[in-house]
Order: sequence, then C-alpha cells, then structure tokens
Amino acid sequence: MTNMIALVTGANKGIGFETARQLAARGMTVLVGARDAERGRAAERRLRDGGAQARFLSLDVTDEESVATAAKLVDEEYGKLDVLVNNAGIVLSDGERALPSETTLATLRRVFETNVFGVVAVTNALLPLLLRAPAARIVNVSSEVGSIGTITDPESFIWRLTSVPYPTSKAALNMVTAMYAKELRDTPVKVNAANPGYCATDFNGHTGFRSPEQGAEVSVHLATLPADGPSGQLWGHLADSGGGYGVLPW
Ligand SMILES: NC(=O)c1ccc[n+]([C@@H]2O[C@H](COP(=O)([O-])OP(=O)(O)OC[C@H]3O[C@@H](n4cnc5c(N)ncnc54)[C@H](OP(=O)(O)O)[C@@H]3O)[C@@H](O)[C@H]2O)c1
Repeated sequence: MTNMIALVTGANKGIGFETARQLAARGMTVLVGARDAERGRAAERRLRDGGAQARFLSLDVTDEESVATAAKLVDEEYGKLDVLVNNAGIVLSDGERALPSETTLATLRRVFETNVFGVVAVTNALLPLLLRAPAARIVNVSSEVGSIGTITDPESFIWRLTSVPYPTSKAALNMVTAMYAKELRDTPVKVNAANPGYCATDFNGHTGFRSPEQGAEVSVHLATLPADGPSGQLWGHLADSGGGYGVLPW
C-alpha cells in the first residue's frame, strides 16, 4: 500500500471505473469521481468489495460549485493529489448523418462543457494539490478522433467520421494538454493525453473492439510514468498500425 491519492472523474462506469480499479490495485487510494451519488456509491462498493481503497467523491465536472467542493474535500482530507485522471466525457451529435453543416451550437456547447471546460475547471481547482505531491501525473482522456493528423488521413479507420462536436472537443483537449505540459515543464508534474482506443462501453452501445480494461491500461500507464517519462504527448492505442501502443500525431 502506498500513500498515493488518485482522483478519476467519471469513475462510476466504463473506462473510468476500470482505471480506478487498476490504480487501486497498484496500492493507491482512489477517489471515485461521479456526478450521481447513487452510481458513485455503487462503484465505490464494487471497488471496495474487490479489495480497493476507494471512496466516492461527488463531482460534476460541469458544475463549478461541485468542482470547488470536491477540491476542498481533497485538500482537507488528504492535503495533496498524486494522480488526476480527467476521464469524464460525453459524445453527442446532430442530424442523421452528423455532418458539420447539421451541427447545432447547443450540442457543441454541451460537449465542450464536459470534455474541455470541465477538464480545465477540475485541473485548475486541483493543481495546487497536485503541486504538493512529489511527482504528480495528469492524464486527460482524449481520443484518436481528436487527432487532426489521424482523422484527415484517408487511409485511417476514422476517416469516415463526419461529426463536429466530439472530435473537435478532443482536439481542443489535446491542445489543453500541450499547454499545461508547457506551463508545468519545470515542475515534476507530467501532463499527457490518453487514447484508450475503441472500447466497448455505454459510450458507443458496447460496439468497441477493445475492453474497458484495455482502455484503462492507457490511462494507468500515463498516471504512473517514471520521472524520465514524457509530458505533453497524445499516447495510447494505435489502431492504424495494427494495434500496440505509442505516440499519436496531434
Ligand atoms: N469508449 C471508447 O471507445 C472511447 C474511445 C476514446 C475515448 N474515450 C473517452 O474515454 C472516457 C470515458 O468514456 P467511456 O467509454 O468509459 O464512457 P462511459 O461508459 O459513458 O462513461 C463516461 C463517464 O463520464 C461520466 N460523466 C459524464 N458527464 C459527466 C459530468 N458532467 N461530470 C462527471 N462525470 C461525468 C459518466 O457519468 P454518468 O454515469 O453519470 O453519465 C460516466 O461515469 C471519455 O472521456 C471518452 O471520451 C472513450
């Protein structure tokens, strides 16, 4: 057992739940961020039943008051944070074909509220605590669909995607990652974006070809990077290279 504290947002199910489970298996105390108390407590119970040191933390990443309250609790109870996994995310699109020309601002705003603004809000609220840890890691759960280099490559398996809100939110999250990594380059904090790959969760009606456990491996790798590990990269599953892990193009 270490005395490391990890917070995973959107940890009540899917890749976030698995990330919490795998971090706890490495001896960390895991704060199970969830916006719904019932779902959060159920996840906490499942994790504890599996032997994890887990605790539900009420956290809606789109609600500034909820973010501030959660950060205050972490400060009061633990005084530092070693790992922050910004995992909570949503996907929405407009119209039958989800074309750019069919996109509504309402949908775009909703997706950005969670996938981009939520990450900045949570990170800024917790950064003082991350800087108090000996060598904190921030993992922003992004996606290959946020990689402009990949989605504009006609040979890529995601070339056919047309929707604006989700891919642009993850592209923005990639830039957020790069900018925080730049700000924090002279500190022990590392900031990276994760590509879990296409995983079978509620997110996509369980159509993904990877498991949530495999998706979580990517976040756990970046959450446990050694002192000489990279910062400011998009790293994870490489679908177009026949699998395996590595750095993706921005
Ligand atoms: N699955 C994939 O193939 C895939 C691929 C690439 C990237 N990703 C990314 O991986 C992350 C996790 O996705 P997943 O597949 O595990 O999806 P999921 O099963 O739908 O889980 C999403 C989690 O985010 C939470 N969430 C949503 N909005 C929130 C908010 N405002 N505040 C706090 N929590 C919120 C959800 O809580 P509720 O239960 O309350 O809704 C849920 O716990 C996302 O960032 C997604 O973009 C997924």
